[in-house]
Amino acid sequence: MINPDTTYHVMGLTRYVDDRDFPARGLHCVVFFSPLARGKIRNLDISAARKVPGVAFILTAKDIPGENQIGGIIQDELLLAEDEVTFAGMPVAAVYAWTEEAARDAVGFIKIDIAEETPVLNPREAYNRNQLIAPVRSFTLGDVEEGIASAVYVVKGEAESGAQEHFYLEGQGTVATPSEEGNLHLASSTQAPTMVQRCVARVCGLPMNRIEVDVRRLGGGFGGKEIQANTWGCFAALGAQKSGVPCRMVLRRSDDMRATGKRHPYSSDFTLALDGAGKFLAFKVIYYQNAGAAADLSTSVLERTLFHATASYYVPNVHATAASCRTNITPNTAFRGFGAPQAMFVFEAAIREASRISGICVETLQRKNLIKTGDCFAYGMAAENARAERCWDKAYAHYDLEKRMRVIDDARRKEKNSSGQVSRYGRGYALMPVCFGISFTTIFLNQARAHIHVYTDGSVGVSTGAVEMGQGVNHKIREIVADSLGIAPERVKLESTNTTRVSNTSPTAASSGTDLNGAAALMACEMIKERLFKFMADEYQCVWEDFSLRDGRLYREEKVCGLGWEDLVMQAYGSRVQLSAEAHYSTPDLHFDTSVEKGRPFAYHTYGTAYFEAEVDRLLGTYTIEKAYVVHDLGRSINPLIDLGQVEGGMVQGIGWVTMEEMRYSEAGRPLTATAGTYKMPDISSAPLDMKVKFLEDAHNDRAVKGSKAVGEPPFMYGIGAFFAIKMAAGSENASYCAPITPERLFMELREGV
Ligand code: MTE
Ligand code: HPA
Ligand code: MOS
Repeated sequence: MINPDTTYHVMGLTRYVDDRDFPARGLHCVVFFSPLARGKIRNLDISAARKVPGVAFILTAKDIPGENQIGGIIQDELLLAEDEVTFAGMPVAAVYAWTEEAARDAVGFIKIDIAEETPVLNPREAYNRNQLIAPVRSFTLGDVEEGIASAVYVVKGEAESGAQEHFYLEGQGTVATPSEEGNLHLASSTQAPTMVQRCVARVCGLPMNRIEVDVRRLGGGFGGKEIQANTWGCFAALGAQKSGVPCRMVLRRSDDMRATGKRHPYSSDFTLALDGAGKFLAFKVIYYQNAGAAADLSTSVLERTLFHATASYYVPNVHATAASCRTNITPNTAFRGFGAPQAMFVFEAAIREASRISGICVETLQRKNLIKTGDCFAYGMAAENARAERCWDKAYAHYDLEKRMRVIDDARRKEKNSSGQVSRYGRGYALMPVCFGISFTTIFLNQARAHIHVYTDGSVGVSTGAVEMGQGVNHKIREIVADSLGIAPERVKLESTNTTRVSNTSPTAASSGTDLNGAAALMACEMIKERLFKFMADEYQCVWEDFSLRDGRLYREEKVCGLGWEDLVMQAYGSRVQLSAEAHYSTPDLHFDTSVEKGRPFAYHTYGTAYFEAEVDRLLGTYTIEKAYVVHDLGRSINPLIDLGQVEGGMVQGIGWVTMEEMRYSEAGRPLTATAGTYKMPDISSAPLDMKVKFLEDAHNDRAVKGSKAVGEPPFMYGIGAFFAIKMAAGSENASYCAPITPERLFMELREGV
């Protein structure tokens, strides 16, 4: 099961974009970013910068040979500022020099004069000024006002969740190398090679077939390189195109942190209505998404927020409205969960508020309303094969949760009964169910291709559209191919992801890398096998369906034929049988009609439940996540070790988002936390002290390759549970739902009641 990539990572032998040998006669690009968040450019002076020794040239907007436009979904984003700046960190000029030091020096000599305007940083303020990225969208189910009217309890509140820095270990970057006839080869750190190809073609004014994008692997992407790798690809390409020599554009950490987009902060208003027994009757919500200065993927992210408005629960009457609000911070972008964590946080906050008002315990409300097979989501799709209750109940049984929670409840009760003195340390718990829809919500993206070569020695090369970013997609596909061809995984090599081998690739995102590309690879294997078997059927005078491949040998009706894989391949080659195949997979049965906001956007849902225990020091506001126990539905896992890594890693990343990771901006809109020294990432000591993950058994999934389920994003949302465990442990009656609950914020919240 071990992913061989990890050996190379640990030995430091893995090579990323910036580890490639770069020629001395190559250019280094460093970008001059806007120091201010908003204003008109009065003057840009690059004359002194141009004279810095080692500088080759400096590009500004007017020097772009193609279009100065990099918008993906909406055409509203310039590569280089023209007459105004709309966020601090916006690229204004690109300096190309023979050393990175020279380029960086030169950037220091660029002078810009901006007529500063007051930036809009808050999404509600942007909404009130009608600064919207796109028209507001609403999903509805039933009649929400009627639901509210018939309720016993109606609770209202606000929830806020913050930005999150991706903090991939490898910064964004591309090395562009020109070849003859003005073609460009790009080694890029992107989740979406085709997007880089298309964007570079547009900016350089070249057809796509002249741009080759190659991706070996990423040192993490987490959504941050789904579209935002385009920008840096363009700068590298422009330098190579103009100079005719290789050009390197790799962001150092501090530039990456201030110039690239984050997870979208959200500000939301909710109303949840319940009957006397705690059944949810209606949910009304409005989300104000802080999109930043350009659309990027915001509308798509916002759509997924709407899809996950009711989280893991069934609510018969729903009205969810979402507004993507244009502000003056970096354009925010995809980040693991893609808008769903923001929605789930709001719903879990609403449940806490409902519990506070009704006195019905949180877990009762959660369990009673979990989505069941046949229950309809607001977007018109009914849950199929729902496993929310199974995961929840399994978590109770497997981890003995009743007993654990009772111990904490008893301690809290005792504390309340005693002299009124609050003890310094308090403990709390929270359960966090997750239900996450799998498929790109942009339906046409649910396609993939795989190209497989069987070489004459029996070794196999596989190209797909999937990008390896640490999530193990390459190894999973290797195992799928090896299993299908009945050979050892060591015989299968995953090639780089290259737009000349596999074209028109979808980003590796939406957790569907293996679902899509693994399925295509399996189809290509089946095609090759069919050819081999038909060839053997002629020899043996039998039907080709009688054959199978296992343990490196050919079997006929379960009996070994005496022919090994290598001999079979060689004989087939000798008889001129085609030993390569290309297959195309597109997820079946997906449709969505935006005119009514109904359809079947997902192939299936992934389910799970996490239980958290936290201890809070009520004097200092500090806390420890003591336990995180998970039951997760993986389907039939292709590689349980990789999937375990995804569940644990995703969950810790989610904990970071709701606890310690805080992006701050000054009133002028300058990022204040754009360095590793000021932005606190969860590290090993902030991970739960005791973390256990149990995979649901007998969980075959008919709707993905080999009965598996996508794993990349869903576990992220378990992390939300940590927030509520901390809130309970703090024991303050403060009903603010504002994430991240940093120790500073908790300290203040605990003081407020005093
Ligand atoms: N795991 C690692 N180690 N590094 C990453 O960058 N990205 C996450 C997730 N797990 C990521 C990761 C995100 S945002 C997604 S969408 C999926 O992996 C993408 O890969 P998959 O579709 O192959 O699961
Ligand atoms: N997830 C990630 N990326 C996407 C999606 C999605 O659902 N839709 C379009 N791009
Ligand atoms: Mo993941 S946010 O879909 O790259």
